[in-house]
Amino acid sequence: MAIRKTAQLGHPILRQRARSLDVAELCSERGQHLIDDLIDTLRDADGVGLAAPQIHESVRVCIIEASQSPRYPGFESVPLLVLVNPVLEPIEEEGWISIYEGCLSIPGLRGQVRRSRAVRVHAMDRQGYPVQIELRDFGAIIVQHEVDHLNGMIFLDRVAPQTLTFQRELERFVPVEKRVIRGGI
Ligand code: NI
Repeated sequence: MAIRKTAQLGHPILRQRARSLDVAELCSERGQHLIDDLIDTLRDADGVGLAAPQIHESVRVCIIEASQSPRYPGFESVPLLVLVNPVLEPIEEEGWISIYEGCLSIPGLRGQVRRSRAVRVHAMDRQGYPVQIELRDFGAIIVQHEVDHLNGMIFLDRVAPQTLTFQRELERFVPVEKRVIRGGI
């Protein structure tokens, strides 16, 4: 169990498509350590989601966990979810949602990204069992952000450029009630 260094914007691993993990690899000591390290690193950084490429492992594993992160005040809590080889299915009729996303690989920078408000996630859990879950609002945003990382994408690829702001300026100039926007289909 270890807090790992996070890959920062410009590191080529953030631009690679990560490969799938099979059950044997996942259940190996190395696979389980990877997941423990993701959890330790995420909690240490007060983040809400982390993908394996961000700790320099180009495999399709990501985690999400949100419990009153100081980086995202006012958002609902999301319990720890470990997702291996996740596939997302947007629930289009739920419309879209946009918040000022940030990324542990791009410290300090935030910007609005339009995401599906609800998604169905098909994945394996950390023991290799298939899981299917539905996530809405903050949880849906986080999982879409993390699965982008597995495909070599970062939120800057999707951001509305004129909304880019540093964290400090977001806190100074954007009232909390204006940090979430929702819309229909
Ligand atoms: Ni990120």
